[in-house]
Amino acid sequence: MVILGIETSCDETAAAVVKDGHKLISNVVASSIDLHSKYGGVVPEIAARAQMEYIIPTIEKSLEEAFSVLSPESLVLSKKLPATDYQLPANVWDQIDAIAVTQGPGLGGSLLVGVMTARTLAITKNKPLYAVNHVQAHPYAAFITEVDSRRLTVDSLQMPGAVPHFPVLALIVSGGHTQLVLFKSHSDYKVLGRTSDDAVGEAYDKVAKMLGLPYPGGPSVGQKAMHGNPQAIKLPKAKMDNPYNFSFSGLKTAVLRASQHLAGKDYTFPSTALPEALNESQKADIAASFQYTAINTLVDALEEATKQFSPASVVVAGGVAASPALRAEISQRLKVPVVYPDMKLCTDNAAMIASLAYFLATTGQQPADPHKLSPDTNLKM
Ligand code: KG4
Ligand code: ZN
Repeated sequence: MVILGIETSCDETAAAVVKDGHKLISNVVASSIDLHSKYGGVVPEIAARAQMEYIIPTIEKSLEEAFSVLSPESLVLSKKLPATDYQLPANVWDQIDAIAVTQGPGLGGSLLVGVMTARTLAITKNKPLYAVNHVQAHPYAAFITEVDSRRLTVDSLQMPGAVPHFPVLALIVSGGHTQLVLFKSHSDYKVLGRTSDDAVGEAYDKVAKMLGLPYPGGPSVGQKAMHGNPQAIKLPKAKMDNPYNFSFSGLKTAVLRASQHLAGKDYTFPSTALPEALNESQKADIAASFQYTAINTLVDALEEATKQFSPASVVVAGGVAASPALRAEISQRLKVPVVYPDMKLCTDNAAMIASLAYFLATTGQQPADPHKLSPDTNLKM
């Protein structure tokens, strides 16, 4: 079963073609991230406009990479986005068995572009349409273990050596979500805990802003942290009733207070002026101390859950799963096999959407009504 996945929940416009849930045939991601960086976070209105501009060229490029004859011209064309006058061969759609789209959660305007495009294609091309939960899909990036190397122009992908085995314990860590989920099978899962306020990626992004580091904060804070002392500042870990719940807003405030203190200012000093008031070594210590506390909070919960539930595999997914520091801490502390998606499939992509749709379709999920499907900004797992 060959599925075209479409993902537009936030600032990435993505389309991918995946065979049988595990073989990546094409993977295209266009991002409006540069348009948001000067604001230090995603601006929903700008993201939605970019989705409208990118969606058709992204889908076309994904189909072209997957199915058109790889002539030298098509390779040149595939580098261009938005496409101009390129026509896909008509029989491309014969090779697609179904369409999968992110229904939510996410930004309303962004989701609407993907859902309406997917509905239109499902109706006009007469394909079943599967609605997918974005957060549930993140761990499915770890089920993508093969690449169609004749087709894929994406270089240096590092796929997991083997698919995860059930029961799978998934730590989903992204800019919008932080949760621990135990999957007994593809269709039977339990959310063990989630964040009660900020997501861990969001905390990275806010700390980056305080330190004057570029958005997204995950990679930039991670880089800065390599030059700092993780023990320099003692930061609090939130204590929760349930050991699998998280909270990162207190940590973010503690970072602000510690930064004001290091700069020799009081609590009224504006966070926007901090980058000027701190020197590079102070910034590195703040980044390292924040990252140490954030990562330990995640790994404490993950370790506890592996002891309680004895999963056959652990999957770490979502944008923050690209963090080398998180991966290093997990490999030191966990005895269970841990499966990580390729780095490029940790952040938002449509391959994970197509993969989850395949496994849901083969375990009985019915297609959505292409005349009725609507986005759900708060869709819960
Ligand atoms: O999964 P994702 O692309 O989007 C959401 O669904 O939210 O995650 C984006 C988040 C951002 O907050 C970004 O700062 C974080 O993932 N991130 C990282 C790294 N790369 C991206 N965090 C830590 N280390 C990284 N290398
Ligand atoms: Zn995501």
